[in-house]
Amino acid sequence: MSSTLRRTWSVVGVLATAVLSLATTASAQGAAPSQEKAPPIVGGQPAPIAEHPWVVYLTDGSGNQFCGGTIARPDKIVTAAHCVTGDAPKIAEVVAGRENKQSQDGTVAKVSNVWVHPKYQGADTGADVAVVTLDRKLQEKPLALASGQDASLYSPGTPTQVYGWGATQEGGEPSDTLRKADVQVFGDQDCTKAYQQYKPDAMVCAGVPQGGMDSCQGDSGGPLVAGDKLIGIVSTGNGCARPGYPGIYTRVGAYFNDLQPQLGS
Ligand code: ARG
Repeated sequence: MSSTLRRTWSVVGVLATAVLSLATTASAQGAAPSQEKAPPIVGGQPAPIAEHPWVVYLTDGSGNQFCGGTIARPDKIVTAAHCVTGDAPKIAEVVAGRENKQSQDGTVAKVSNVWVHPKYQGADTGADVAVVTLDRKLQEKPLALASGQDASLYSPGTPTQVYGWGATQEGGEPSDTLRKADVQVFGDQDCTKAYQQYKPDAMVCAGVPQGGMDSCQGDSGGPLVAGDKLIGIVSTGNGCARPGYPGIYTRVGAYFNDLQPQLGS
């Protein structure tokens, strides 16, 4: 190796080390992980639970998180019907106020009742909504539900956020910590183009046109939020974050009236 070449290489080495240490510092501080392989939810960022106290998760008998949910009343959780029926694990507990699954933070509640929308048959046909009643009242702040009056929150392009502890990429592992992704409401025509089963009066879809941002397995039941209201419930989708395939969410505004009696109002 000539000395010029060696000098070039050592400069490259120093630069590479600097870049690496910068990257390490950035990810340690939780900054935008542009080069990290697994940005949980898919393509998202960390979400401090203190800012989103109404997001909860459901655990099975072994304590494993398998779905998300939203606090709608101190003792009422709105989630997806497919999280609490059929092949779903039997829900054992609801965990609130715990950003990191490995911690003991927050409150753990047991379930006293589960209501599933009577029209629910499967995520592909709509009514993918359920209400879980807890054995105690949570301290965490509930989130308001979108109603039939909230048509504007469903207009194409509306910015929304989806939250969860689910898979960090299609086929990937769930996240230990709460993540969120910024997605936007897709118009009914775009949803229908992607999904034959799309029903505009029962579903809403959200994503980003180029893909790369989405909810994923394990996020089901969790909140899609716009204008400080719950507008959607993570329901289904073709893979995760694929271009042209937004996530499909239960259209909460369409079920507002069915939900009121279940929420005790
Ligand atoms: N059905 C999945 C679950 O049970 C959620 C899938 C959401 N998919 C999507 N592409 N947004 O966790």
